Amino acid sequence: MSIFPTYRPRRLRRTEALRSASRETVVSPADLILPLFAVPGTGVRRPVGSMAGVEQTSADELLRDAEEALRLGIGGVLLFGIPEHKDELGTGGYDEDGIVQRAVRLLKRELPELLVITDVCLCEYTSHGHCGILRAGDVDNDATLPLLARVAATHAAAGADVVAPSDMMDGRVGALRKALDAGGFEQTAILSYAVKYASAFYGPFRDAAESAPSEGDRRSAQMDPGNVREALREARQDVAEGADMLMVKPALSYLDVIHRVKEDTGYPVFAYHVSGEYAMIEAAAQRGWIDGPRAHEEALTSIRRAGADRVVSYYARQFARSRAR
Ligand code: PBG
Repeated sequence: MSIFPTYRPRRLRRTEALRSASRETVVSPADLILPLFAVPGTGVRRPVGSMAGVEQTSADELLRDAEEALRLGIGGVLLFGIPEHKDELGTGGYDEDGIVQRAVRLLKRELPELLVITDVCLCEYTSHGHCGILRAGDVDNDATLPLLARVAATHAAAGADVVAPSDMMDGRVGALRKALDAGGFEQTAILSYAVKYASAFYGPFRDAAESAPSEGDRRSAQMDPGNVREALREARQDVAEGADMLMVKPALSYLDVIHRVKEDTGYPVFAYHVSGEYAMIEAAAQRGWIDGPRAHEEALTSIRRAGADRVVSYYARQFARSRAR
């Protein structure tokens, strides 16, 4: 009697057409969200040294990038602002005429159908680079909440579809929801960076956003990489406070966390494929050590397979371009 297998998995791997027919996870441009960095001025395009292909742009140039993103079918943009002046209280973050507020107004006027998400944090706006008001060398949680709420309300007033708090202060989702509702912005959604780890993979971003803390680190606010049960508590808490969507960040080292947050909450889960993850692939590819486009696609596919509905990715544009042709 032959014990030769009747199930031959390789049958479906023989040609690209067969592989495609049996592929479980396919990434498309609509799954991706493109981060954009707004700076003052006009006609400004400044490459970020540590992130090939990423630039700081003035609002007019940012509009061009957003236009291209929309045309390529990318799922939306995530805006960060780098102000001219920073101060102790991060006032540039909640200035009605601030850098992000102005960019959002322009985007929503010119491209109303584009999904516009704004990052809500103070670290790009404070002189010390911490995510809130400092007291005795640490971020004062409760004193920071009203400022974050003001940031979110000014973004909503400018027309942001979604505000995304990335500061990791306790209670900020509730504070944002309350302020948004009180301001008449009950339709503005909150994408909470519910699960954000104190990660070494944010290095290049801090270069792009000029937001590295001048002293200390963010470990008193961001999560310890060893924890996943705590991630579920964070996610549930943010849902209870009114989060509409949840973010897990970084992505590649936390695929199990993405999966579990998705299973546990059933809420839309975004994953932030962060700057260091992008830069690692780019750097190795530049040296000819790996095939960049394939490695990027494999990473994005893994993040989607783990359960992320949307992936924030610096590679979104290159990926979408390669699909457009
Ligand atoms: C904080 C913020 C950070 C990132 C997004 N929002 C940096 C941090 O917490 O230090 C990192 C994103 C990335 O590395 O790509 N506003």
